[in-house]
Amino acid sequence: MSKKNDDFFKEKKPWSEVKDQLLGCYFKPYLLKILQTKKPVVYVDCFAGKGKFEDGNPGSPLIALGIIDECLASTNTGAPQISTTFIDVNYAEDLKRNIGIRNNSRIVSGKYEEQITEILKGKTGCNVFLYIDPYGIKALKYSMFNRFAKGAYNSIELLINMNSFGFIREACHALSVKLELDDPNLFDDLIEYAPAKMDASKKSIEDLNEIAGGDYWQAIIQDLKANKIDGYQAEELFAAQYCQELMRCFKFVLNMPLRIKQGQRPKYRMIHATNHQDGCLLMVDNICNRWEAWHEVQNAGQMSLFEEDANNQIVNESEIEAKMMSFFSRLHGNYVSLHMALAYFFMQYGPLCKSGVIKQKLKDFEKRGLLLVERDPKTTPTGRPAAFMDEKTNQKKVMIKWANK
Ligand SMILES: C[S@@+](CC[C@H](N)C(=O)[O-])C[C@H]1O[C@@H](n2cnc3c(N)ncnc32)[C@H](O)[C@@H]1O
Repeated sequence: MSKKNDDFFKEKKPWSEVKDQLLGCYFKPYLLKILQTKKPVVYVDCFAGKGKFEDGNPGSPLIALGIIDECLASTNTGAPQISTTFIDVNYAEDLKRNIGIRNNSRIVSGKYEEQITEILKGKTGCNVFLYIDPYGIKALKYSMFNRFAKGAYNSIELLINMNSFGFIREACHALSVKLELDDPNLFDDLIEYAPAKMDASKKSIEDLNEIAGGDYWQAIIQDLKANKIDGYQAEELFAAQYCQELMRCFKFVLNMPLRIKQGQRPKYRMIHATNHQDGCLLMVDNICNRWEAWHEVQNAGQMSLFEEDANNQIVNESEIEAKMMSFFSRLHGNYVSLHMALAYFFMQYGPLCKSGVIKQKLKDFEKRGLLLVERDPKTTPTGRPAAFMDEKTNQKKVMIKWANK
């Protein structure tokens, strides 16, 4: 029997707000872009909740539906087909009440892990987006993500709320290691949907292997036991290796630690996995925009002296340029697509700035003769040489290569 945890929906907590902003602010540009493919869009909120919080704030279902309505009203891409499915094991009735009846939308009462295969049946050639926001980690089976990645979809993207501290806590239970953390509130929202906890049994270790997609986490917990690392470093190492594991099935995986106060430990990690470079770049920009917005709230509107990325690492221009030099100077073979190269750049260094910053600097590299650029179309409508540093499906293409200077 699933634990209901009704309190979660009494009022929307800052954590949920931050999570939903990341979804909401990404989903709109994603939809506008993906509708250009003219293929049907299939959106599944796999742990949908009640649709709305009791304080009147929208939950992820109403946020997504609002964005779909906005996009349908503004897009000029013919007759877009967008279907939505909302799964929840506890709150199907609340969902029906809060969402109402809509075309191409259905509510499924049941468990994501038992329903999703059926829901995705027959979606070959579609653009699939799965929002995965469980309370805990138990339902997050790596093998399912691997299966989704291999599906014959036009595109597939996942946005996962990965409760990485919850994983470390359960991993410590399974390997009988004491976990000491100095933040007493860290686990406030880390509520498992099923009452069973991991214990020092073979079954728990197998379950954790299945969630992590391997047994690499065990070495991290052993290092923790040997005091080589602390609990926070264990979480960071686990999140990094988990993303590496996901990159075995998805080309581009980004991870954003969610903290709402500066200097605070991250509470969750939102992980975005996609096989498309444009999805990755949109998410990089979204993470940076969200980061800027939260940073401003955290600093009460005061400008910070240094730029920080979403990992609270201070980034400065010369550092970005050095990273660009190191990365792009390796592209001296064939011409490669600008957006593909950019997405791999962010895979290597993380979302350290918006993609526009890198594009601007690449223009500068081009002016300095460091970068060769081929554009399609080559000229502007008025016949001047094109200078854009941006790709648009079926409209603009940019290929780049290092000039070997
Ligand atoms: C964190 S809440 C989701 C909140 C929602 N994304 C929002 O922003 O409003 C997790 C939800 O997952 C549901 N749930 C728990 N286990 C589930 C499972 N195995 N399959 C589907 N839903 C599940 C719970 O009932 C709960 O409503």
